[in-house]
Amino acid sequence: MLISFEGTEGCGKSTLIRNLLKKLGKAKIKAIATREPGGSPVAEKIREIILNNEMDPLTELFLYESARAEHFEKIIAPALKTKKIVLCDRFIDSTIAYQGFARGLKLPMIETLNKLATHHRAPDLTFFLDLPVEEGLARATDPNKFEKAGIEFQKKVRKGFLYSIKKNKKRWKVISVKNKTPDEVTEEVFQIIVKKL
Ligand code: TYD
Repeated sequence: MLISFEGTEGCGKSTLIRNLLKKLGKAKIKAIATREPGGSPVAEKIREIILNNEMDPLTELFLYESARAEHFEKIIAPALKTKKIVLCDRFIDSTIAYQGFARGLKLPMIETLNKLATHHRAPDLTFFLDLPVEEGLARATDPNKFEKAGIEFQKKVRKGFLYSIKKNKKRWKVISVKNKTPDEVTEEVFQIIVKKL
């Protein structure tokens, strides 16, 4: 099962994924945690280039998709083959939200590239960690270039996620994280995953 985690900045995805991996391990359920951009040696190098440089939006899109193709081939597909659950911190929907809605690139082009990079393998389940963008940005301690782009940019990103959720309701689970502890969020998400097994 391929499970992706999406959200605007500071929504707590990374903490959740760390906690989930531990909980799945204790329940003897085989799983790996990975992230995009990155997750494999070459994709992590591409990540460094993307996050540490300003660049043309189309260049940025191709780099995300290159990283994804490599990550999918080297890490995700082999893990799925051995029946592991893959927990992926960001995936194809981030590209729609960031490069599409926030950067303004055309959605059909992004959808085509997303499919090419993943051999048409969409996630089985996608969690959207829902937190007001103002709260998320206030949590960022070491802001990356997208966090520095500010509230208006994040609002466009959020709109992008809401678009994808509306388009594909079956695959998405929206989890409101406002006023919840990390443990409460972990338990809620864990129960949803276990029910799907
Ligand atoms: P990261 O520091 O991991 O941010 P976060 O903790 O919010 O996931 O940096 C990844 C950044 O890359 C994040 O700001 C979202 C952005 N991104 C895209 O713009 N397009 C994409 O396709 C992906 C996967 C991520």
